Amino acid sequence: MTILVTGGAGFIGANYVLSRLAKGSESIVVVDSLTYAGNLESLAPVENNDSFHFVKADITDADAMQQIFETHKPQAVVHFAAESHVDRSISGPRVFTETNVLGTQVLLDASRTQGVERFVMVSTDEVYGSLGKEGLFTESSPLKPSSPYSASKAAADLLALAYSHTYGLDVMVTRCSNNYGPLQFPEKLIPLMVINALHDEPLPVYGDGMQVRDWIHVLDHNAAVDAVLEKGKSGEVYNIGAENERANVDIVRHILKHLDKPETLIRNVADRPGHDRRYAIDPTKIERELGWKPAKDPKVALDETIDWYVNNREWWERVRSGDYQTYYAKQYANRLEG
Ligand code: NAD
Ligand code: TYD
Repeated sequence: MTILVTGGAGFIGANYVLSRLAKGSESIVVVDSLTYAGNLESLAPVENNDSFHFVKADITDADAMQQIFETHKPQAVVHFAAESHVDRSISGPRVFTETNVLGTQVLLDASRTQGVERFVMVSTDEVYGSLGKEGLFTESSPLKPSSPYSASKAAADLLALAYSHTYGLDVMVTRCSNNYGPLQFPEKLIPLMVINALHDEPLPVYGDGMQVRDWIHVLDHNAAVDAVLEKGKSGEVYNIGAENERANVDIVRHILKHLDKPETLIRNVADRPGHDRRYAIDPTKIERELGWKPAKDPKVALDETIDWYVNNREWWERVRSGDYQTYYAKQYANRLEG
């Protein structure tokens, strides 16, 4: 089988490609435009693998996508490529609409016209908006996205379902909670806090830090994506989560304790505009229907993740050059002023 993986040079996509190739047998074609978040170094362990092919291309380019699908004739598409950072979507929403909405539509068209058999649309729990203190997101929760990022993902996942309904394309949508693990771009909460703590720099916690996220290890997310690819029912949505809710400030304190750094490094800064208060996933459907369950113990896996960033300093030091420095300096200055 040939699987076309979009966004395979990003955090979740790279972990996915490395795991799938370690299992052997099939061919993987990565399509990635290498934005600030795409990093070929993450794929270095497989660069000489005969089953791995990389194509630098933008998913919004319909001609390029038709060409790539014609050349590689994938049976399946796993669609990770996206603009993924909520804060960036607040300061510059246009590219989120272009990549996440238009790019998804272009891929759905290429898949439809070129006989792709399975299409997994990797979406997010953020499409459901924010929860109060109680309750969990189920697949039938209403879509109420609140940021430009989550609105663009909701549009994309509805488009994917529309292609299933209208054209009979074999599409499944996954909606996963917040991921952590190796190779995450270091402007996201966990790598950012680890790296700042290692530098004895302030750890910027938005607002009161009591916002809750439902954390899942990236390898558990990717195993769920595989379960959906292999056994999912066409036209269905599957929520993915590990029942691991934690307040942001609790995660930050955990990181400081693990690194033996003082809590005085925590800095409460201006809150994110429209900040969602709580996400929490009910994973009953995927567990019952596809037999998936998270394998990682969250307490061990978070510490392993912190240690990965401690031990892979060269990886994130290279990533943190260029665009990231400019973005972060501006972002952080704005928050401290606010
Ligand atoms: P990421 O930002 O680390 O990686 C995104 C990748 O997509 C990068 O390699 C980037 O170069 C590529 N890309 C961006 N625009 C592109 C374009 N126009 N054409 C081709 N490639 C392009 O993101 P991630 O955290 O790995 O997330 C992957 C997917 O999983 C996204 O669809 C995201 O919405 C979803 N998701 C993420 C999380 C999370 O916690 N990170 C949780 C649930 C769902
Ligand atoms: P993030 O990693 O950006 O993921 P998302 O916004 O998709 O949930 O942020 C996770 C949580 O951490 C979110 O509630 C925002 C918060 N946060 C901070 O408090 N400080 C930070 O510097 C960052 C990047 C995030």
